Amino acid sequence: MSLTRIHNFSVSLDGFGTGEPQSAEAPFGHAGQRLHQWMMATRSWDPTGTAGVDDAFAERHDPGIGAEIMGANKFGPPGWQDDPGWDGWWGPNPPFHTPTFVLTHRPRPSIEMEGGTTFHFLEASPAEALETARAAAGGQDVRIGGGVTVVRDFLLAGLVDHMHLVVVPIVLGRGVRLWDGLEAVEEGFDVEAVSAPSGVTHLTFTRKTP
Ligand SMILES: NC(=O)c1ccc[n+]([C@@H]2O[C@H](COP(=O)([O-])OP(=O)(O)OC[C@H]3O[C@@H](n4cnc5c(N)ncnc54)[C@H](OP(=O)(O)O)[C@@H]3O)[C@@H](O)[C@H]2O)c1
Repeated sequence: MSLTRIHNFSVSLDGFGTGEPQSAEAPFGHAGQRLHQWMMATRSWDPTGTAGVDDAFAERHDPGIGAEIMGANKFGPPGWQDDPGWDGWWGPNPPFHTPTFVLTHRPRPSIEMEGGTTFHFLEASPAEALETARAAAGGQDVRIGGGVTVVRDFLLAGLVDHMHLVVVPIVLGRGVRLWDGLEAVEEGFDVEAVSAPSGVTHLTFTRKTP
């Protein structure tokens, strides 16, 4: 069965998944790279990195994934829709290597990149987007790649089977909050926590079997 999964999604202690303002120079706003330093220190990211608890979680990001869904603000900085040449942050060979569906109210024709990534642009509800992505995933799982609003919307719609969330011990104070409107969301999941020596806490939310 094809699952809907979230991996390596990092939030501050006060629940922000990005800072502000987002821009081409600062994709995470005033958060800079602090939400993902734990991940960038691992072997999954850097061959000379660590191979401990953080790496064990980080490396689960790709296996078994056949398509990704992301939001417009993960795909580019504010205003990218006005740039007909914008094809993402990641260069000619993006790290997705699957069909990748960008939710936007200003869709454009698909862009085929090197390495198996094709960006498709969709204006659709989370359930419709998931149906489309699942059809393209070849029987594999679909990853919800962020940003914060899209993760929140998929949780709200009850469409997430497994979420790996990383609580980073920083207080951002402002940005885009994950938990708004999700009161008691944890009740639908079995939740486990693992503390890593780096200072982050890995939480896994696995949908309860009915
Ligand atoms: N913490 C993490 O681990 C993590 C992971 C990935 C990304 N991020 C960060 O998160 C930030 C982006 O998050 P965000 O909450 O600002 O935005 P987002 O979730 O990336 O995208 C939200 C935008 O996507 C479009 N959209 C969403 N649902 C749609 C639908 N059903 N139909 C059509 N369009 C839809 C809308 O844009 P339009 O109306 O403009 O089309 C909406 O404003 C970035 O800073 C990114 O770097 C963080």
